[in-house]
Amino acid sequence: MHDQRFRIFLAIAVLTVASLAAQVGTRPPEPAENFQPGAPVEQPVAFSHKTHVGLGLKCLECHAIEAPGDYAGFPSETQCMACHIAIKTDSSHIQNLAAAADNDKPIDWNRVYQVKEFVYFSHEIHNREAGIDCSECHGPVAERDVLFQETSLGMYACMKCHERHDAPNGCDTCHDTH
Ligand code: HEC
Ligand code: HEC
Ligand code: HEC
Ligand code: HEC
Ligand code: HEC
Repeated sequence: MHDQRFRIFLAIAVLTVASLAAQVGTRPPEPAENFQPGAPVEQPVAFSHKTHVGLGLKCLECHAIEAPGDYAGFPSETQCMACHIAIKTDSSHIQNLAAAADNDKPIDWNRVYQVKEFVYFSHEIHNREAGIDCSECHGPVAERDVLFQETSLGMYACMKCHERHDAPNGCDTCHDTH
């Protein structure tokens, strides 16, 4: 009897993994121990977090985590121009920034952290509700001129932290298994 229930459980588990694997490929996720920090990510406009956070600007002033709060988001060029209308106007970077603001053409920032579309992640839940600091997942951003991926945000890293915090760890927490 027990044996039969276990078999049914196993069949469901195998089916779940198989359908996920069909969606996302067959390679098993990388263990977090194998993580190597990424290379510096060059940007179309040479923005420095060290300079700007040093001026007293707060993370959430530029990354607003607006409802529903999955994305931290990026600041608008208009926000930058509040200062740069007058600061460093002789810089080619600031001239590109001003042109982007004038033409309403958002700068296409190269991404540093990005999970694939089959993973569900929410900044609202982690930062606002669980109170986890940005630096725990993104490293000491305030000290960086150029960002690079400093911590693993692969499946093992997510699950390890969930285990430490007693947060849910079923496959359907982060993957839509239906
Ligand atoms: C628990 C880990 C975690 C915490 C805490 C966290 N982030 Fe993130 N962040 C991520 C992940 C994972 C991604 C990639 C999300 C994606 O691709 O959908 C990301 C992406 C981003 C992005 C790119 C835009 C986006 O939303 O995809 C920005 C900007 C960002 N984070 C800023 C912040 C800031 C600012 C804080 C603190 C207020 C913060 N993050 C806290 C894990 C975290
Ligand atoms: C509160 C005012 C303020 C805001 C808002 C602001 N900046 Fe700055 N920015 C500065 C100051 C001050 C400097 C340093 C100028 C110096 O080196 O003398 C600077 C420097 C820069 C530089 C370096 C320019 C160069 O060639 O040396 C870039 C690029 C830049 N900012 C981009 C941005 C972007 C992009 C945004 C919006 C996401 C932004 N800034 C928002 C005040 C601001
Ligand atoms: C003046 C506005 C401004 C402030 C303040 C600011 N950021 Fe950013 N942030 C940006 C811009 C512009 C980018 C895109 C360029 C880059 O990656 O450097 C960015 C990119 C990022 C990224 C990379 C997102 C991705 O996946 O591509 C993270 C993570 C991040 N910021 C976290 C933070 C944290 C944490 C703080 C506070 C310590 C902070 N930011 C403060 C403007 C800002
Ligand atoms: C630094 C620790 C930490 C990391 C890293 C982390 N999480 Fe979490 N996560 C939490 C905590 C704590 C909660 C519980 C929040 C609550 O319920 O208040 C949570 C909750 C969640 C939830 C909501 C679960 C639910 O149903 O209530 C999802 C979805 C999630 N995380 C996905 C991810 C993904 C995807 C990653 C990796 C890209 C990740 N998390 C990385 C700590 C973390
Ligand atoms: C706490 C969040 C979380 C949980 C729980 C979770 N995953 Fe993942 N999973 C991820 C993240 C993050 C990735 C990496 C996506 C990326 O590379 O951007 C991933 C990737 C995968 C991949 C693709 C591997 C690859 O590199 O192509 C498979 C398959 C997978 N997960 C299956 C599962 C199964 C089965 C379960 C339940 C046993 C599960 N996941 C539970 C977050 C999670």
